[in-house]
Amino acid sequence: MIELNPAHLHRSDLAADAALLRPRRLRRTSSLRRLVRETTLTPADFVAPLFVRHGRNQRIPIRSMPGQFQLSVDQLAEEAKQIAGLGVPAVILFGIPAHKDAVGSDNYDPAGVVPQAIRAIKDAAPELIVISDMCFCEYTDHGHCGVINIPGEMHYHPHLPEGYLLDAPTRELLARASAVHAEAGADVIAPSGMVDGMVAAIRSGLDAAGFEHVAILSYAVKYASGFYGPFREAAESPPAFGDRSQYQMDPANRREAFKEADLDVVEGADMLMVKPALPYLDVLAALRERYPLPIAAYQVSGEYAMLHAAAANGWLDLKRCALESLIAIKRAGADFILTYFAKEAAKWVLE
Ligand code: PBG
Repeated sequence: MIELNPAHLHRSDLAADAALLRPRRLRRTSSLRRLVRETTLTPADFVAPLFVRHGRNQRIPIRSMPGQFQLSVDQLAEEAKQIAGLGVPAVILFGIPAHKDAVGSDNYDPAGVVPQAIRAIKDAAPELIVISDMCFCEYTDHGHCGVINIPGEMHYHPHLPEGYLLDAPTRELLARASAVHAEAGADVIAPSGMVDGMVAAIRSGLDAAGFEHVAILSYAVKYASGFYGPFREAAESPPAFGDRSQYQMDPANRREAFKEADLDVVEGADMLMVKPALPYLDVLAALRERYPLPIAAYQVSGEYAMLHAAAANGWLDLKRCALESLIAIKRAGADFILTYFAKEAAKWVLE
């Protein structure tokens, strides 16, 4: 670091000092800029999210997320090969089951949509890392991320409020579903429900079932965000009543992110995630400083949709703004980024 001597900074020396220190010198040509660039993107920085649906021969475009599809299991081999061929090391799977119920049983059915998808991907592209998003909202008929306190339902608890998410039975089902996904071949389980104690429950469930090698990527710091809007159409998972703010974090809170992350680290998380990405770069940077674990950021559906909508109107250059967002997320401290731009961005960064 160049030290400016404050004693020299009186008016008459100011011009001389400024002449010595012209930051523009290193911006003069693209080669110079490349030489001194602090942050770079490579295809290995990206994880591609995939929406996997029941049925056959389905490739259903998601209206609010141009270029994204719900794919049936038979479509995944080709998709997985393409993604791996672009140098993207991992996918994360979201399931859209044929059948939803109060406890989201398709999630822990060995013949459920995601276990089938995991097998299909591992057959087609064995080296591609398969991350299984572990949450119940896509599988429950009420659309919440776990078992809900509803009179007449199996786990009803009269002392707890109606509509309250029940941690204990949810944890049990998360552990069970995680072992099923691991058995199908998942490399990483990514619990995204913000259920207290979820990481510990999943770790012991995996270990007890013989999957000590399967890693946990915890959505440790997940905000109750309006930017998930398009995802709920993509995954067909809007909550039937209320919203998710009883378990997801208040966007106003930063210190609380440390509390969530501390708990997940103690419970055995191998990697942490911050979500959404761009509106929470301060939180991402703070986590990067504080934890030695790999930290992921999720550029969510709304971030993707906004860029596409503006580009479709001719207001923004899609490629430029997408890459600028991704580099900002990496600069703030992400080791890797879950992004719907994964395939395109993998091509762009190699151009
Ligand atoms: C499931 C889940 C959500 C997202 C990822 N996993 C929705 C939510 O929590 O409401 C959002 C991803 C996106 O918006 O791209 N719990």
